[in-house]
Amino acid sequence: MASPATLDPSLSLYHLLDQKVLADPYPLYRAVREAAPVAWDPYLSCWVVTGYDEALVVLKEFSADRTPTPEFMARLGLGEIGPLADVMCRQMLFLDAPAHTHMRKLCASAFTPRRVERLRRHIEEIADELIDTALPQGRIDVVGDFAERLPAIVTAHLLGMPREDHVQLKAWSADFAQMLGNFQHNPGGVVRVLKSLDEMTRYFRSAIREDRRRLDDGLVRSLVEAEVDGARLTEDEVIANVIVTMVGGQETTTNLIGNGLLTLLLHPDRLIELRDTPEIADTAIEELLRYETPSQHTGRICRTDTVLGGQTIPAGAPVLAVMAAANRDPARFANPDRLDLTRADNRHLAFGWAAHFCFGAPLARMEARIAFQALLRRLPDLALTDHPPVWRDNLGLRGLTALPVTFTPIGRAG
Ligand code: HEM
Repeated sequence: MASPATLDPSLSLYHLLDQKVLADPYPLYRAVREAAPVAWDPYLSCWVVTGYDEALVVLKEFSADRTPTPEFMARLGLGEIGPLADVMCRQMLFLDAPAHTHMRKLCASAFTPRRVERLRRHIEEIADELIDTALPQGRIDVVGDFAERLPAIVTAHLLGMPREDHVQLKAWSADFAQMLGNFQHNPGGVVRVLKSLDEMTRYFRSAIREDRRRLDDGLVRSLVEAEVDGARLTEDEVIANVIVTMVGGQETTTNLIGNGLLTLLLHPDRLIELRDTPEIADTAIEELLRYETPSQHTGRICRTDTVLGGQTIPAGAPVLAVMAAANRDPARFANPDRLDLTRADNRHLAFGWAAHFCFGAPLARMEARIAFQALLRRLPDLALTDHPPVWRDNLGLRGLTALPVTFTPIGRAG
């Protein structure tokens, strides 16, 4: 008989590869959590943590240092992945203290609340401009025409790169995200990611070295110049962390806007509630983050033999903290499957927790708030079309391929 902690094949998270499960993964998460909030998934070869309290322990205490080094990949005969491992090993997302603390401090000194606040007016202008283009047509693909473009343009601006480069930055970011969010083997994808990685590394290296004087007052220049206690980032560290910020800043924000709007359209009373009472926007965004978590899970390594949820996880074991499942745990959230835009006690895990808590959360919240307000205020009779929503084949970064909606066409002055 299988050990009690081993998931039944019907409960393995590999079922997320099935489009029907991907369309609504929450019943699977519930079944897994009810079977065991901490369980070994023999098909993914990792521990899967779906309970809120247990996921919190993983995020607080387990190691984020989970990227094999280029040397290790070479020993496995996978030397071609070396450049990818080399970049990831320098990204704060995959470092533990003290290296993580040092890196994050330097990056935080460049990514100040003032810099985020300065973007507000710019974000409002882009949101309005994207909606203006769609107004006379009476239809918009909220993902392709809005939710992808807004964070891409904002990211170019944040980094201090020319606005016209946002299409290229988005394409590189999408390739990287496809690899980050998935756990299935995808040799073709690796080749594409390596090409994108090479191109974006050369792009940022040349921006730092040759075009430095032309760089706007953005994050790239600030990271190059950042200094804390006399320490600076190396050029490779700047590039690696610009890449993680660029990918983190685009994919998830796109998904928050796209998934959030779909959720509202599927709950028309809640959509009207948010449109007519904009002062609930802050709690509404937290609820949309909880209800349709854009970054569904993250990986960690168990440091020492640890008893969690009644199971003993051995030192060195890979662990998947499923934030999207924890965010629907009834032991933590009353009526977790109910969308409550004024939910008061809502400390969800959508931005992670503790040392690696999302670096860009204030910016993401600001972009989402401006996006929902602009869409709901300017397109008051938004409606879904007959096309059923299609989810991207990304198991970790949950988002839609497209979200076509219609509304009454309005003249440009509307
Ligand atoms: C809705 C939007 C967003 C969501 C849901 C999200 C989610 C997350 C999560 C869950 C983590 C922690 C991962 C872990 O612990 O393994 C994280 C970390 C991070 N995020 Fe975000 N993120 C969003 C937006 C952004 C934005 C706008 C930026 C930057 C402009 C950003 C940059 C980062 C970075 C650099 C980290 C790594 C922090 C560290 O390791 O210390 N994210 N994000």
